[in-house]
Amino acid sequence: MTAEERLPRFPEGFLWGTATAAYQIEGAVTADGRGPSIWDAFCAEPGRVKNGDTGAVACDHYHRWPEDVALMAGLGVNAYRFSVAWPRIQPAGRGRANPKGLDFYERLVDALTERGIAPALTLYHWDLPQALQDGGGWMNRDTAHRFADYAALVADRLGDRVAVWITLNEPFVHMTEGYGLGTHAPGQALLLDALPAAHHLLLGHGLAVPVLRERVSGQVAITNNYSPVRAAGGSAGDRAAADALDALQNRLFTDPLLLGAYPDLSAFGIGPGLPFVRDGDLRVISAPPDRLGVNYYSPTMVAAPGAGSRAGGGPSVLSEVGERLESAALPFEDVPIEGCPVTAFGWPVVPDGLRELLLYLRDRYGDALPPILITENGCSQRDEAGRPDRERIEFLDGHLRAVHRAMEAGVDVRGYFVWSLLDNFEWAEGYDQRFGLVHVDFATRERTPKASYHWFREQLRAQRDRS
Ligand code: NOJ
Repeated sequence: MTAEERLPRFPEGFLWGTATAAYQIEGAVTADGRGPSIWDAFCAEPGRVKNGDTGAVACDHYHRWPEDVALMAGLGVNAYRFSVAWPRIQPAGRGRANPKGLDFYERLVDALTERGIAPALTLYHWDLPQALQDGGGWMNRDTAHRFADYAALVADRLGDRVAVWITLNEPFVHMTEGYGLGTHAPGQALLLDALPAAHHLLLGHGLAVPVLRERVSGQVAITNNYSPVRAAGGSAGDRAAADALDALQNRLFTDPLLLGAYPDLSAFGIGPGLPFVRDGDLRVISAPPDRLGVNYYSPTMVAAPGAGSRAGGGPSVLSEVGERLESAALPFEDVPIEGCPVTAFGWPVVPDGLRELLLYLRDRYGDALPPILITENGCSQRDEAGRPDRERIEFLDGHLRAVHRAMEAGVDVRGYFVWSLLDNFEWAEGYDQRFGLVHVDFATRERTPKASYHWFREQLRAQRDRS
């Protein structure tokens, strides 16, 4: 590897990892007493998931996890982000723990630790026990309390050996796609009436924080997704459109956490009072976390409504909201970002958007911003079997350099996790979108490291050699 191919040096102790989520890789959906989740139910409904795919077997990680741990050890990462399936721990979402569910994650955590890989555990990556959905899911405030109980059960067993505890993954996407649009489980299309789900997710996080603090030695975090919003032009209308989307997409789940208040959503005809917010809730929600998990895939561009035709410019969930709310007078309109490569999903590849985002977070939240972990970044490409995987290497290289530039500008970033270790079940897209450093043949479950795996391994080796 020549000097230019080598990434700049990251600080000692930086976490280098890969990320996955339970429903996307585990399979074994009825093994050892696991109860049904909202994703099992959603996948069973015809037409919900592309090609009728389901997570019933996925990568079969539940049985093949030793091989996956060996792949990570071979890669040389020092951290791994995975999620615990709530329905394995509490099959009906409440009550005593299912010991076999906890045993599975304990074996995994111990195997990682033996290999020098720090576990970063996400408690909730969208697979709610179906029994709780039957009671309203996250639209019901009680689910926040059930989540805190579940957190206690996992922390009682693993509290002494998990480095990072991430309460929720991307609550914004879960709320908008799951409860707002119905494109994800549980498939409800409440549009902006889904907002109570946002609040109850945040409340669940807030209630879980003291529960974890009493039981764990590691850090407590939450993972949000962010997409820097650009105004298509300099007009006041375009700027107002960008500000409106920014409030919904980037600040809705971060202002309450770090500033103790919801952002102004008046551009959407919402607020200022939110009837589902009770006295004291924001104090619970704003208990300072030790780390902020940041997932970044691409930026969004918008214009004032009516400026042109709506077109999806990236992974913005709001571009789908836009389509669904065509007549509902949204205060913005998506504009495609042009002049850059796109991923297999069609998402624009803009590495500098990650630097921009990190500076935005620092400028907006200042001293309230905890150190950041990039908990997801990566890209889907077409089936790479036999292909050079050049696009993924360039994607990762560009984004890691952007992280480094942000760090040089003073942003405190402590780790970076590639999404994903393995090709996996990409939610409503099924198995079509391949994000893995490792190829999975979904007929045989055979794993084959891609060129990007080898590239990442060499980068990690170079980082170690220079430390
Ligand atoms: C974010 C989600 O957390 C993850 O589950 C998903 O697979 C990736 N983005 C890619 O869309």
